[in-house]
Amino acid sequence: MFHALHGSRTSLLIEARPGKAPVWRYWGARLPDGAAPEAAISATRPLPSFSLDDDVPLTTFPLNGDGWFNQSALLAHRAGQGWSQSVTACDISAGPQRLTIVLRDDVAKITVTQTLSLGLLTDVLTVSAHLTNDGDAPLDVQSFAAATLPLPAEARTVRYFSGRHQGEFNEQSQTLTRSLWRRENRRGLTSHDCPPTGFVETENGDVYGAHLAWSGNSVQQIEWLDHGHFLWQFGEWLAPGEVILAPGDTLSSPQLIATFSSDGRNGVMQNFHRDIRKRIGWPGGKMKPRPVQINTWEGFYFKHDLTGMKALADEAARLGIERFILDDGWFHGRDDDRTSLGDWWPDAKKYPDGLKPLADHVVSKGMEFGLWFEPEMVNPNSDLARAHPDWLLSDKERPDMTARNQLVLDLTQPGVTDYLFNAMSKLLSQLPIAYIKWDHNRDLVARGDRPTYRKQVLAAYALMARLRDAFPHLEIEACAGGGGRIDAGILAHTHRFWTSDNLDAVSRLPMQRGFLSVFPPEVMGAHIGTAPAHGTRRTQSLDFRAAVALPGHFGVELDVLKLSDKDKSKLQVWIALHKALRPRLHSGNVWHGEAGDGVVWQAHGDDDALLLFVYRVEPTLQRHAPAARLPMLECGAQYRVQRIDRTRTNQTAPFQDALLSPDGVVIEGAWLAQSGLPLPQLMAETCAIYDLSRIGRLAPV
Ligand code: GLA
Repeated sequence: MFHALHGSRTSLLIEARPGKAPVWRYWGARLPDGAAPEAAISATRPLPSFSLDDDVPLTTFPLNGDGWFNQSALLAHRAGQGWSQSVTACDISAGPQRLTIVLRDDVAKITVTQTLSLGLLTDVLTVSAHLTNDGDAPLDVQSFAAATLPLPAEARTVRYFSGRHQGEFNEQSQTLTRSLWRRENRRGLTSHDCPPTGFVETENGDVYGAHLAWSGNSVQQIEWLDHGHFLWQFGEWLAPGEVILAPGDTLSSPQLIATFSSDGRNGVMQNFHRDIRKRIGWPGGKMKPRPVQINTWEGFYFKHDLTGMKALADEAARLGIERFILDDGWFHGRDDDRTSLGDWWPDAKKYPDGLKPLADHVVSKGMEFGLWFEPEMVNPNSDLARAHPDWLLSDKERPDMTARNQLVLDLTQPGVTDYLFNAMSKLLSQLPIAYIKWDHNRDLVARGDRPTYRKQVLAAYALMARLRDAFPHLEIEACAGGGGRIDAGILAHTHRFWTSDNLDAVSRLPMQRGFLSVFPPEVMGAHIGTAPAHGTRRTQSLDFRAAVALPGHFGVELDVLKLSDKDKSKLQVWIALHKALRPRLHSGNVWHGEAGDGVVWQAHGDDDALLLFVYRVEPTLQRHAPAARLPMLECGAQYRVQRIDRTRTNQTAPFQDALLSPDGVVIEGAWLAQSGLPLPQLMAETCAIYDLSRIGRLAPV
């Protein structure tokens, strides 16, 4: 008996077996409805010599007790007993686009329920697993996979991200071999250096992508199987003793979201965007145009005063900015990063009458007011830490290990989350706060009487949910030293990510490509920073900084009062351009491409209308500029192409001038797709922006 799920361009198929876990038979390009394997797997492959007398193929939940010698989906025991699990009963129920698989081991006394659903329009497979302890003794869980997926024999390369604070989404690639490939994140939050994402490319250009929707520790591994293909497994990384399931209790894995595309990385990215857009809980149920933001951090750091902030708000509103975010530095005693985290009330020196005068002023200028918090954190030098040493995630027997001079609160204690909820809701009720930037500026070390990593993540999610229940209009930005907590788990509670503390536009380009490979542009915080950039000391023009930030959730992070009049006018123009383009930037598809000679491009839209950003970072090494092939355009259509940025070069040509004219140039889709749009010779660190719209189909030949 076979069960298939079909999306619009992908399918998966599993083989049910009485009393055993179902076998993975297929995950890849769309199969015709009703297509089924020729026979049960055991009927198709002879048993090899020196093997078990029963065939042991890859199942949806491989277990070592089933005679599986590769990665088991579960490692668990009861005080050294019951360490081997094997399925004794299996029940599969099929719903629309969904399979529920219930696996029981009546000997080890556990039940595992797996759910697999495949989005009809997204082609994204969502898998999760739930483990119930049916025995009467505690079950010590060492590892529990969210999903074990099949990868075909042609899988060749895995791509993934490493990174650091100020250097997120540093893409790596490795050839798959017969050795186990494994990445583990043990930092307690999603992390800069090991986010739970991977892409596997096959020999023929197909790409599989997967991402664990989880903001804590994680493990991802790919193992070659001597069946001639690979397994890909994701789950939480569990610390020793972290999960000891009481009788009757259930452990739920995070969701894994995974997809396949024959259109390469762009296809995978577009599938992810379609799925992830559906996961975001916008206030009122619908995304409003993303407000252009100003954030006070890099322009002011801890130097706040009411008069200065009001003047900033005046100028920001004049420039067209729509949301004002008061970053770190506003609360009691917070004059530097050595003090006061946890003391969440306004600093009386900086804001003698509290934040109301500023918040009201911001709102009176037609902007929304947002406020920075770092709820999970506390400085030892704070009223909170002095009053509640028992609230820290620390260890009586060992010294505390600070990071950025701060320690972590134990969110698993209800008193802690009540304190945070009350402190934050007091401000949220008294002030017109529309937005919170929720930071988390350190990793979690192995401290505390018992490991609470996963409970800490769940408690942070619950606190966010509680606040959003109480204040349904609230939007939240997830930040962790820039991009240390970017994942689809936290996105169920938040509405924007702060991509990186590195605002250097040259550094940002590859980071943003990495970000967009899973997450859509409307949740990608992208700001124009100062020049030189604080993170790198490199200087880029305001135009280039703006053009790099433009496709994301756009913002400004500098003291606009210090800009020259010329730069203020430029900024005003870029803000107006973003507002005009954002409906098109923040819906539809994104494509990435390379034109050669160091030129990269990014397109947003659909095959009717596209916005195309062509970026050059390094000076050209060629006499003539390359052309950008746009393979997504429809070959039988014509497109009007117009260049809409104001960047000009001294070298030009009649065709390039015509692109700049109000009518643009009409070009055949086939030509743009196959030969490419001839580009101007761009200077280093510049961007050309084009608007392409389909004006009709060519008459059939
Ligand atoms: C982190 C964030 C910054 C800023 C500071 C404030 O580093 O990434 O944007 O909010 O914290 O301390």
